[in-house]
Amino acid sequence: MILVVGGAGYIGSHLVKELVEKDEVVVLDNLSTGHREAVDDQAIFVKGDLGNEEDLDMIFHSYPIKAVMHFAANSLVGESVVDPMKYYQNNVASTLTLLKVMMKHNVKNFIFSSTAATYGIPNVNIIDEATPTAPINPYGHSKLMIEQILADFSKAYDLHYVVLRYFNAAGAHESAVIGESHDPETHLIPIILQQLLGQREKISVFGSDYDTEDGTCIRDYIHVTDLASAHILALEALLSEKKSAEIYNLGNGLGYSVKEVIETCERVTGVKSNVEMADRRAGDPARLVASSDKIYNELGWKAERNLERIIADAWNWHQEQRY
Ligand code: UFG
Repeated sequence: MILVVGGAGYIGSHLVKELVEKDEVVVLDNLSTGHREAVDDQAIFVKGDLGNEEDLDMIFHSYPIKAVMHFAANSLVGESVVDPMKYYQNNVASTLTLLKVMMKHNVKNFIFSSTAATYGIPNVNIIDEATPTAPINPYGHSKLMIEQILADFSKAYDLHYVVLRYFNAAGAHESAVIGESHDPETHLIPIILQQLLGQREKISVFGSDYDTEDGTCIRDYIHVTDLASAHILALEALLSEKKSAEIYNLGNGLGYSVKEVIETCERVTGVKSNVEMADRRAGDPARLVASSDKIYNELGWKAERNLERIIADAWNWHQEQRY
């Protein structure tokens, strides 16, 4: 049985949908940002907090958990700058509690959601796992701190772990039953699609004077279902003891500028957008594009869904307006 912490959130709920076909799943989520309805019916759902030892003890006593996948974190860069306490409390202190209770119950397999934000402003065009980490905001720091804790726990307590550094997660489940449902929404693709549906007046492009081909920021967008499949492979690698302490980037390896993403959304949906140029948003690196060669070479994973597919699936879900 696998414990998925944060399994009602955007990425967690997509992983759970795949994982229930392979194993028994318990989801722990406090529903602070997640949606109960997004959790697949085949999973057991427990409402509780990963910072609460009693909630965790109850789960580890009640179910034969062999691995934990941890998606429960706050993940907005801007918010982390104005409220670092929230990020260190939820992303660091609560994760430490989870790890402590895992060690107590002798559960030693862990998959951790990390981020490209650990790289800060890299001085390379394509980021691989050897690129130095140098976060520029509390969110990135909070994730990197846990990565360090995992490395130390692995040596001291024989914890086995895989860290997955996501680039820009996007898209929705192909069934359109679950998708990206944040409130407030800050991410580019859902904001564009909401505007195309008439739910927003305009799209603001944050900065058009970056040192990129068209002056707007470049990101590597990765379909949430591709992220889910990487987690399944990472879990299999841990449980088969093929891997015990690894970090992998997860991206498409292709960079798209904000303008290109808007154009692709217009092309895929056939709807014209209303765009304004705006000031830069604090803390945005000009370009973040991943090399995912390491996980391809070691576990055979690569992204299978391109930007058009990401947008088409997200568009289907946005029109349904579910969870
Ligand atoms: N953008 C706009 N207008 C908007 C929203 C976004 O121009 O209304 C731009 C941003 O400035 C950025 C790009 O679109 O250049 C993507 O922005 P998102 O907010 O969608 O995503 P981020 O790249 O800021 O952040 C995401 C995750 C983080 C993670 C990071 C890692 O939200 O948790 O990817 O790359 F750390």
